[in-house]
Amino acid sequence: MNDGVQPRLRAVKALLPVLQQKASLSSSLPRAQQGLNNEDAALTQALAFGVCRFQPRLQFWADQLLQQSLKSKDLDVLALLLIGMYQLQEGRVADYAAINTCVEAAKKLNKPWAGKLLNACLRRFQREQEALIQLAEGKETAASAFPAWLLKRIKKAYSKDWRDICAASNLQPPMTLRINQRKTTREAYLQQLQQLDIVATATTFSPWGITLEQPTHPALLPGFAEGHFSVQDEAAQLTPLLLDLQAGQRVLDACCAPGGKTAHLLETADLNLLALDVDESRLGRVHENLQRLQLKAEVKCADAAAVEHWWDGQAFDRILLDAPCSATGVIRRHPDIKLLRRDSDIKELADIQLKLLQKLWPLLKPGGLVLYATCSILPEENQHPLASFLHQTADAVHQDIEAEWGQALRFGRQLLPQPQGHDGFFYCLLQKRLDL
Ligand SMILES: C[S@@+](CC[C@H](N)C(=O)[O-])C[C@H]1O[C@@H](n2cnc3c(N)ncnc32)[C@H](O)[C@@H]1O
Repeated sequence: MNDGVQPRLRAVKALLPVLQQKASLSSSLPRAQQGLNNEDAALTQALAFGVCRFQPRLQFWADQLLQQSLKSKDLDVLALLLIGMYQLQEGRVADYAAINTCVEAAKKLNKPWAGKLLNACLRRFQREQEALIQLAEGKETAASAFPAWLLKRIKKAYSKDWRDICAASNLQPPMTLRINQRKTTREAYLQQLQQLDIVATATTFSPWGITLEQPTHPALLPGFAEGHFSVQDEAAQLTPLLLDLQAGQRVLDACCAPGGKTAHLLETADLNLLALDVDESRLGRVHENLQRLQLKAEVKCADAAAVEHWWDGQAFDRILLDAPCSATGVIRRHPDIKLLRRDSDIKELADIQLKLLQKLWPLLKPGGLVLYATCSILPEENQHPLASFLHQTADAVHQDIEAEWGQALRFGRQLLPQPQGHDGFFYCLLQKRLDL
């Protein structure tokens, strides 16, 4: 088959379930990449991610170029058009190659008209690109490449910073490692990388973090199998700094999968840790991570809110509630969020977040700490449920987080996604009063 045609067809295969809002890229992409060599698999991924990242803008252009909308049964043709425009505006391959490979790929769809249509649309895009870019600049959803409902919420919450937030969310994220302090030190590992000519720097806020200049497969880095590091964003690495962990404490990680923070807590102290997640299919990763890092926790599949089904009656010193959320702080890592999330999800998530807080609070010892965390940047999932909870809960005291990262809010601290820096994240620390 023609050079480059196969990755484009596979990118279509990865994108279709996302465009139909039936599955995420994390499930569709590995299936679409099956049997490809590394180079074609990487191109398939780059195309699928790129199209999701800029879909609101690409769709705006598609609407200008198509005389009538394509039927839902022709979503594969639309996907190829988005891929072609993505490549033309990205400019990494020659225009003729971007166009020809898409037209050739279209011929494999058994739709004789599709090749002609794509050829006409992509050539027009090539000719009129400057005017189309200007047209997109005049429409906020196309310019920001954010869906209207989410842009509205971000603008409302961040009237000054919303452009920077959108721009940072449209960049490729850096790859950050968390050094396992039980196995090595950050300084020693940085030296090891330097000896291998791998360019890396220490993170600013996490004392365990290292950012790589070039992302790579973790297994290609030294010490992965031996558990010397994990891949984790810097914002997520701040958790143990806030929990004042001491050996022997009984700790609950209420929403643990895939186990990034579970492992990190255990790397910093010898804890008696119970890790829960409601999604059985995600718990395999928790076990894998603990095994590779040589750490131990009790891991259970359970709905954390259904306390009567899993709690043995012994109170916890610390509870980490890394709550399910919209993941709007990590859109640069999961750009399909732009297509998959709906406005109505936010209220549903906020209800779940508040319910989890309410149900877990009675399990905390007096004087104990709950750390509430999300990778959301929306106040509806962060300060708002916290404000409701604190209003309803007499023995809950909000603890200010003194830190150089993020911005202090009335309740909690918000990190916004930074180009080349940490993801968007939210932390709020609560203590249970001793005197009530
Ligand atoms: C943000 S992720 C957790 C990430 C994890 N703490 C880490 O650092 O790797 C949220 C998790 O909450 C889980 N979850 C959602 N609702 C839950 C519930 N009611 N009880 C327990 N886990 C839940 C999801 O399955 C998902 O794995």
